[in-house]
Amino acid sequence: MSFTRADDLLGAWRLASAVEVFDDGERRDEFGPNPEGYLCYHPAGIVSATLGASARPPVSAGDPQSATGEDYERIARHFIAYAGPFSVDVGNGTVTHHVDVSLFPNWQGHDQIRRVTVEGERLSIIASDRTSADGRTFHSELDLAQDLRASRPFANGVTVKPRARLQHEIGHTVSIANTRDNPTRDDEPTMTQATTPTLELNNGVTIPALGLGVFQTPPDETREAVRAALGAGYRHIDTAAAYGNERQVGEAVHSSGQDRSEIVLETKIWISDYGYDETLHGFQKSARKLGVEQIDLLILHQPLPSAFDRTLEAYRALETLLADGKVRAIGVSNFTVEHLTTLLEHATIAPGVNQIELHPYFQQRDVQHFHAEHDILTQAWSPIGGITFYREGSHHSTLDDPVIADIAKAHGKTPAQAMLRWGLQHGRSVIPKSTKPSRIAENIDVFDFELSTDEMATIDGLDTGRRGGPEPDAVTLEAFAFEIPEA
Ligand SMILES: NC(=O)c1ccc[n+]([C@@H]2O[C@H](COP(=O)([O-])OP(=O)(O)OC[C@H]3O[C@@H](n4cnc5c(N)ncnc54)[C@H](OP(=O)(O)O)[C@@H]3O)[C@@H](O)[C@H]2O)c1
Repeated sequence: MSFTRADDLLGAWRLASAVEVFDDGERRDEFGPNPEGYLCYHPAGIVSATLGASARPPVSAGDPQSATGEDYERIARHFIAYAGPFSVDVGNGTVTHHVDVSLFPNWQGHDQIRRVTVEGERLSIIASDRTSADGRTFHSELDLAQDLRASRPFANGVTVKPRARLQHEIGHTVSIANTRDNPTRDDEPTMTQATTPTLELNNGVTIPALGLGVFQTPPDETREAVRAALGAGYRHIDTAAAYGNERQVGEAVHSSGQDRSEIVLETKIWISDYGYDETLHGFQKSARKLGVEQIDLLILHQPLPSAFDRTLEAYRALETLLADGKVRAIGVSNFTVEHLTTLLEHATIAPGVNQIELHPYFQQRDVQHFHAEHDILTQAWSPIGGITFYREGSHHSTLDDPVIADIAKAHGKTPAQAMLRWGLQHGRSVIPKSTKPSRIAENIDVFDFELSTDEMATIDGLDTGRRGGPEPDAVTLEAFAFEIPEA
């Protein structure tokens, strides 16, 4: 696997030793025998810092005990500006990170990091050669150990949490994850867990309010994304037969060591498999690919307005699967009020969720209102407005919205976090997608702040009424059907 940004590597690391190694063999403590340095995870969830007497401006935040959130932000900007891409080779029990671009460009001429090695809970960094004042060649070797005690409140009330621990599977893969499965020593605080509140569906089944979406996540990146999510505390994954990555979702869940019963797997039947028998078979394909007997939440991906009978037959199959215990809950997606109204006229069981496009620029209040009246959970897709920037359309990106940016900034959060918080405070299920561990962690780090009534209303006011995704009525078999492969 490869990491593409420095923040994928970070967690709470304490500088254990730092020596300068000269070409004639001399080894000197670089910062004295007790270096005080940390690589930490900033509350914004994106970056690390080297702290303490050991660090030099502009990398330094000064004494780690008195450094403030602003110090971290300054360092964060520095690291973001300079951290470059690097790749990882997984070898025989050792993971070697070849850093191509400097992590610490201003750090005493270390314009290149030669090697980063991760072994168990230790991280070693070997800097590139440089020349000392007396003309000798030397390089620095830093040894860092994971330190869960790095979590502490700072002068301005910001708490820097150890958000990541290293999971190391020899010869297979490496991921950095915040997971409660890692053992902690007795004298250390337990890792801060991202505890996600749950939402109750109309049949009593509960699902986490925040899950990971995997639309457009390539199959070969899906395992890592799901692993990173599970490590960061997610317990809900939203996939679909049409995404082509159900198998990888299942593999990641089964190899995670997490109790299957703690994880909500949601998937969708594609329109090509609508019809009663076809949908029953669609369930089998998805369940086999996911490697499960029972799917937690199975929904119809789209209404088929041009063949609504088939849609109703597909829904009848979902009801059968629910009655047979093959699924724990059922629902629909992209249904308008009209589609829902017709569905309820025919269905014997109301859908538990309707997963719809919902972000600040497109809020579908009529559909939400219908949901509230009929006890259907609103599940927001593109909850941070992905559709506003990955699909050509009439919107600019919600991530660049100045109003959202200001609200986010007021809470020391990112625009994505502010939008997720807005959705959650409205009582919605949100399923942000990312393939990047740092963003996956960022997106679940939304349970330690609250938007005010005014801020909620301000974001409510950004609705344009313009859909980013396809009009549901435009989704026809002719235009959108394709074969979902057998398991
Ligand atoms: N039912 C449906 O018809 C339907 C349609 C669309 C989506 N969905 C579901 O809803 C999920 C989420 O919707 P979505 O994927 O359309 O949009 P989204 O989650 O709102 O946004 C995803 C996009 O934002 C980027 N991103 C993620 N976190 C970020 C962050 N913290 N900062 C900046 N950029 C960030 C992602 O890029 P990186 O991956 O590069 O980070 C990706 O391009 C999907 O994955 C899928 O499960 C369902």
